[in-house]
Amino acid sequence: MKIPGTRQTIDEDDVQAIVDAMHDPLLTTGPRVEEFENAFARATKSRFAVAVNSGTAALHCAMHACGVGESETSTDEVIVPAISFVATSNVALYQNAKPVFADVEPDTLRIDADDVQRKITRNTKAIVAMDYGGQPCDYAALRSIADKNQLMLVADACHSLGGAAGAQPVGSLADCSCFSLHPAKQITAGEGGMVTTDDRELAAKMRAFRNHGIGSNHRQRQKQATHRYKMEALGYNYRLTDIQCALGISQLKKLREFTRLRNEVATVYDDLLTGCEFLTPLTTVPGVRHARHLYVVKWNAEASGVTRDEAFGSLRDRGIGVNVHYQPIYQQPYYQRAIASNELDVPHCPVADDVYESILSLPVFPGMTLEQVAYVVESLHEVAKNAELLRRAA
Ligand SMILES: Cc1ncc(COP(=O)(O)O)c(C=O)c1O
Repeated sequence: MKIPGTRQTIDEDDVQAIVDAMHDPLLTTGPRVEEFENAFARATKSRFAVAVNSGTAALHCAMHACGVGESETSTDEVIVPAISFVATSNVALYQNAKPVFADVEPDTLRIDADDVQRKITRNTKAIVAMDYGGQPCDYAALRSIADKNQLMLVADACHSLGGAAGAQPVGSLADCSCFSLHPAKQITAGEGGMVTTDDRELAAKMRAFRNHGIGSNHRQRQKQATHRYKMEALGYNYRLTDIQCALGISQLKKLREFTRLRNEVATVYDDLLTGCEFLTPLTTVPGVRHARHLYVVKWNAEASGVTRDEAFGSLRDRGIGVNVHYQPIYQQPYYQRAIASNELDVPHCPVADDVYESILSLPVFPGMTLEQVAYVVESLHEVAKNAELLRRAA
């Protein structure tokens, strides 16, 4: 790809941080984990941060901590957005709960709070909101729905580290907020994840869950001069290594700058695409700081003369790493089978079904140059113009 859809920014100081960590006596469950957690909690104005080895693990920890599927005969339901990465709803399945899909807002693709309200039943246990593309959801509305119905509110904030709603950073807007440190994300640890919360008990549950359900780690046992540990619940090995934490600590220092650069790219797209008749960028609502993980447009097949998929192919042929985020989760074969066998409800999300046909993600990453943005925009116009010429010639 001439212009990738996304690319991590790794500097020499990131590399040095990893090298330094490699010389430490503890490569995992060492002091860098806490250091990273503390820095992350500060950056997101949250009381606790729990480091794990992926965004998916972060979401799974949150499900567990929120008590989803706690009973063996669980009939728990978790409301999730129709349009997200599959991990957002898979984690409900991991906990023997039923994901129930809520529709998305047509202009932002964030979960639609009104539809969340409609999808609540007496089995609903939690709501997972996903900050689509980096824009925080309407947490004021979601909080009020969650409180009224005594539900846990989880933020899938895998796109939105660095974002904010008013003065409140992402990470402090829900009961648990889950982050991914995959290289495509705002900062990276190679792979990795983090959950933030203000609740001490939830944090403790998640710390145990990431360590097989064991409530202490080897350093704590060493301090207490004991070899005994207690496994109170079934957990997993979701630990993040100190090597990855070293990279995460180094990257986190650059989060503000990465967010600024991403927003700069988005502003140039906004300017160059104003008035474009064959596509419409998604909307940013007032009062939020957009983390700009993605820059998504709705492609108008009629006005451009080419379908979204044809445009996707032509842009890829030009070396541009466009993408589509995402097909509605329930359209995946695994979910279709579960729906056909009545394990899951038939989803009713007309906006998601419709909007999926038109969305296209344009490249955005901190190191993207103005020339690269201009080339993408020029190529979008060329794709539409070529379609027009072919139409006239036919
Ligand atoms: C919205 C969303 N949720 C969850 C995840 C899962 O994160 P990870 O890949 O770190 O497990 C991703 C990552 O792509 C994501 O984009």
